Amino acid sequence: MTREEAKKRLEELRELINYHNYRYYVLDDPEIPDAEYDRLMQELLELERQFPDLVTPDSPSQRVGAPPREEFETVPHSVPMLSLDNAFSEEDIREFDERVHRLLGVSGPIEYVAEPKLDGLGVELVYENGVLTVGSTRGDGYVGENVTENLKTIKSIPLRLLTRWLPAPERLEVRGEVIMQKEAFRRLNREREERGEPPFANPRNAAAGSVRQLDPRVTASRPLDMYCYGYGQIIGGPDFKTHWEVLEAFKKWGLKVNPLNELCKGIDQVVDYYRRMTEKREELPYEADGVVVKVNSLEYQARLGMKTRSPRWAIAWKFEAHQEITQVVDIVAQVGRTGTLTPVAILKPVRVGGVVVSRATLHNQDEIDRLDVRIGDWVIVQRAGDVIPEIVSVVKSRRTGKEKPYHLPDRCPVCGAKVVRMPGEVAYRCTNASCPAQLKERILHFASKRAMDIDGLGEKLVDQLVDKGLVKDVADLYFLKKEDLMKLERMGEKSAENLLRAIEESKSRSLDRLLYGLGIRYVGEHMARVLIDHFGSIEALKNASYEDLIQIPEVGPVVAESVVTFFRQPENLKLLEKLKKAGIQLEQKPEERKKSDLLAGKTFVFTGALKSFTRDEAQRIVEELGGRAASSVSRRTDYVVVGENPGSKAERARQLGIPMITEEEFKKMIGMA
Ligand code: IVH
Repeated sequence: MTREEAKKRLEELRELINYHNYRYYVLDDPEIPDAEYDRLMQELLELERQFPDLVTPDSPSQRVGAPPREEFETVPHSVPMLSLDNAFSEEDIREFDERVHRLLGVSGPIEYVAEPKLDGLGVELVYENGVLTVGSTRGDGYVGENVTENLKTIKSIPLRLLTRWLPAPERLEVRGEVIMQKEAFRRLNREREERGEPPFANPRNAAAGSVRQLDPRVTASRPLDMYCYGYGQIIGGPDFKTHWEVLEAFKKWGLKVNPLNELCKGIDQVVDYYRRMTEKREELPYEADGVVVKVNSLEYQARLGMKTRSPRWAIAWKFEAHQEITQVVDIVAQVGRTGTLTPVAILKPVRVGGVVVSRATLHNQDEIDRLDVRIGDWVIVQRAGDVIPEIVSVVKSRRTGKEKPYHLPDRCPVCGAKVVRMPGEVAYRCTNASCPAQLKERILHFASKRAMDIDGLGEKLVDQLVDKGLVKDVADLYFLKKEDLMKLERMGEKSAENLLRAIEESKSRSLDRLLYGLGIRYVGEHMARVLIDHFGSIEALKNASYEDLIQIPEVGPVVAESVVTFFRQPENLKLLEKLKKAGIQLEQKPEERKKSDLLAGKTFVFTGALKSFTRDEAQRIVEELGGRAASSVSRRTDYVVVGENPGSKAERARQLGIPMITEEEFKKMIGMA
């Protein structure tokens, strides 16, 4: 790139980044995914590295965040609150380690602290002689917004430090991240939508928007949490030698520190930590967008020093993004197993969270209207865990005017039957019960992993089975003959035998999976288990009345109605007869039955060694008695059973005030002693 071209591109980038900074920091309403923002910033940094004389004082590279909102008083930070450089690969992180070695002039493994990088709002708390006096946002890194009253409403922030184990320093500036847990975020957004308020784009914006509120009562009503990971000034405190010691002191003072932080001896252990975190990521109750790696020794930190916007002793190793930007090439209607037409966006393929995504569900017509998605739009797609990719929002600033609005068709795209919208429902449905698209979807669902798990029965095969008339309902699968199968395309003797074996094996699946596989509306995996646990057989469920059903605590009117309707249809009853004839059990085997509801609704965590059972046995007992056994202590834990030499879970239970019982007490509770 020539100097002239670089200059032009830099101007574009600065303007773009400034606009997105404004959306992110000032409005708490970003328009593009973080990954896209990171790319713009990386491009800017790279160009400025190549042409250092083109760096301007107002370049976004020269500052950390955004100026404080005018409505708030400002608070200067006595030590600037820096940002972090990013690493995107193992190569980047090893380069960081080499740089640290080089700058320090040392050899041998360096000790690092690795921490989850929480995706929330960076804040600072000032404690004077142990009392919380000021709380502020990071702002532009130098000056933040005074949000003391708002932060004081957050339960995990102590208003006074604990001094039982360690005296409070004269002045302590603690830094950390205010976050909203994913579950709380979903609940909040549901409530907002019900009230007709716009939902927050993600938990981070919800957290930021909740703290940067003029009315602390609003903050108080939001489920926020804070984790501490750093500090500014400490006056009159212990003489800390390492970052890890600081974190330990935080805990003693009653500040919340992430229990997943780890001390790593050398960069290999950091790499291992990062791998483990990527696997854990989905299960975490909060959003983490990477791992922060910090040199442990404070002396080393001081020697390494900092650059304009970030320290040389720390780096953020980002996870693959959950959200990406791409273009909608087309929108098509897909017919589901209940005849529902689901609009699906066909996307320009893009990598999201490690997987290439080329389709995203648009759920229904209301969703299309709400998002105002049009064919040709640039959109943000999101994919988390096993969830189907979905479109979060449209980047309206990229519209050219050529985008085409979409509406679901009034004829089924597969069988041509009329499509209707049921009163009171969002769904549009194909009215033809024998529409081949519906049958195919029903079979695929029946054969899916979590239902009957028929290995090898995929889309192409189902298409042929239905199109050739070999299968007219799911029970027909069990009457297929090898000769029939061998007539199909790409089906040799061996694969026919394999398929027949897989079909045969599926007969031994548990009853709840069979029930789930039948695809009754509103009966998902969990509900299927609830119903089978209650009735014990499909036979009994078939004869249950609406009143019988509604009496089960977890069953609401919608599910009850749907179940009764299903078993009233003659063709469904015929289907059950046919399944029975095929040799499928419709009664639950006695050993599969749950023994009682003694511990229903209660969550247990075990810590330490137990005398009468192994951990697994104890957990199984809890589940058999209708309770839940969790592996970590949270606010939702009801009891922590403490064995010998308990670990940190007991400590956590103490902090959260969760009842702790001995093994003997647990045995009494379950009637074993
Ligand atoms: S350390 C100089 N540790 O990420 C060190 N930051 O991009 C600066 N963050 O401003 C921060 N989790 O808001 C640190 N465990 C963690 C973090 C963390 C999240 C945020 C923080 C910071 C931003 C840097």
